[in-house]
Order: sequence, then structure tokens, then C-alpha cells
Amino acid sequence: MDQLNDSMVSEFVLLGLSGSWKTKVFLMLTFSTLYLGIIVGNLFIVILVIADSHLHSPMYFLLGNLSLNDVWVSSTTVPKMISDLLKEHRVISFRSCMTQICFIHIIGEVEMVLLIAMAFDRYTAICKPLHYLRIMSPKLCISFVIAGWVTGVVHALSQFSFVINLPFCGPNEVDSFYCDFPRIIQLACTDGGKFEFVVAANSGFMSMGAFFLLLLSYVFILVTVWKRSSGDLSKALVTLSAHITVVVLSFTPCMFLYVWPFPTSSIDKYLFILDFAITPALNPVIYTLRNKDILVSIQRLYKRLAYDKFC
Ligand SMILES: *[C@@H]1O[C@H](CO)[C@@H](O)[C@H](O)[C@H]1NC(C)=O
Repeated sequence: MDQLNDSMVSEFVLLGLSGSWKTKVFLMLTFSTLYLGIIVGNLFIVILVIADSHLHSPMYFLLGNLSLNDVWVSSTTVPKMISDLLKEHRVISFRSCMTQICFIHIIGEVEMVLLIAMAFDRYTAICKPLHYLRIMSPKLCISFVIAGWVTGVVHALSQFSFVINLPFCGPNEVDSFYCDFPRIIQLACTDGGKFEFVVAANSGFMSMGAFFLLLLSYVFILVTVWKRSSGDLSKALVTLSAHITVVVLSFTPCMFLYVWPFPTSSIDKYLFILDFAITPALNPVIYTLRNKDILVSIQRLYKRLAYDKFC
């Protein structure tokens, strides 16, 4: 009861991205374009994967889900960031702030599990090609998606249950463009030390664990290809470089923020632009422009549309 009375903060002030008015206009146009690209590009992939029966395979099932999830990832923060950029007072209510934290962690965890599933899919296809269809059964693919959501909810709520009980008695300036655990915990009128540990142990451990699991699977794939092709890695490297780029870009900010929580600089807020606006935009570019199946599928779709128009 005491704690409830202590909670006097009903809204947080987001300090947002700094800069001159010109910079902010520039950022607003850039992020609006990026966000539009994220929505259009990713939804296009989702529609393509659902509509084209040639793409009904484990890899595209996971890719479709990753694209859909990318739309959610950037929608957790980017629209609010854009609408806040030119505002003088950037506030977010206590409730919206907590909701945003939960969504970021649930969807972020789904993203991690999907990236792991996609790495496992490539590992199976390259290292165990004869068993590929048996191992990557539809049941396993659906299990990956469900596992992502279940671990996401458990992961987010387990940290949330600590934060919601913290006494917020006054300080309410968040030096970022969105709400997240480390910065919110900093504002609580209590010794945050043990909560810092909860975040590091939970989010930090999760992201480090997933990152090393992913790296390990890429090492396995590369070693297998290297042995088979007696030393010529170039082709596999080209194929995998896209996946590895996405993984490194998405995980660097997480490790920066959660493994060393209680940020003393504001670098991490700029780093997280990578996660919310750059990698979700990059995924469709990487996977469509480099992928023959997708390009052929686009041609097929185009022909079908053109045909429909004339008949
Ligand atoms: C994503 O996963 C769900 C549930 O497992 C599935 O029904 C859906 O078809 C998938 N989406 C795409 C675009 O592949």
C-alpha cells in the first residue's frame, strides 16, 4: 500500500533526440520515409509468402513471420518518435510507458527466437540436407513461432512485475525517445542495484545467449561448407553475410544496454535506432534483392496481375 502512495509519477517526459530544428525536420523526414518503407516492404513480403504456393517452405514461413514481426518492432517506438520530434513537450503517460516496455520486450524476444529459427533452418538445410524436410516439419516451424511468443510474454512480464512495484516519487525525465527498463528503473526512488541485476540477468542473459547461439550455428555452417568444398568459403559467406549482418546489427544495441545497464551516456538511444528503424527496413532489402525465389515470385505475381487486368 505504501508503495502505491509513493507512486506520484503519472507521466514521464521523454527527452528524445536532441538537435537543432533543422536536424529534427531532417530526422522526421528520414524516419517517416524509413517507417513507410518498413511497412510497405515487409507487408509485401508477407503477402508474397502467403499468396505464392511456391514459397510455402519452412524458410519462407519463418521469413514471412520475421517480416510481420519487423512491422511490430518498429511500430512500438518509431511512430511516437516521429510525432514527438517537433513537439516541445514530449510526454508519455505512466500506463503507455509500461505498455511500451512490455511490447518492446515481447516482440523483441519473438524477433530473437525467429532469428535463431532461421539460423537453425539454414544449418539443417546446409549441414543435414537429406533430413531437411523431416526435421523442419510444419509442426516445428509453428512451434518456433509459438515458443517466441511464450518466452516473450514470460520474459517481459517477469521483469515488468519488478518494475511496476517500484516507488516513483518525482523524477520523471527519461533521456531517450522511448521507455525501457534501465532508464525507468533509474528514476525510481529506491536503491536500483538489485533491479539492475534483474534486468542484466534477464534481458542481458537472453540477448547474450541468443547472440552466441546464433554465432555458433553460423560457425557450424561455415565449417561444414568449408570441409565439403575443400576450402572455398566464398559462396557460403555471400549467402550467410546477410543473416550475419542483421544479427550483429540487432544484437549490438541490446548487449550495450542490458549487459551494462544504468547507462551513463546517451549513446544507447542512438544505437537502438538500429533495432527499431534500420534492421526492420534492411530485412526486406536483404532478402528480396538477393533472393532468386522471391524475385521469380514477384515476376509471377506481376504476370498474374497483368493477366487479370486484360481478362
Ligand atoms: C506465421 O506464423 C503463423 C503461426 O504459426 C502462421 O499461421 C503464418 O502463416 C505465418 N505467417 C507467414 C507470413 O508465413
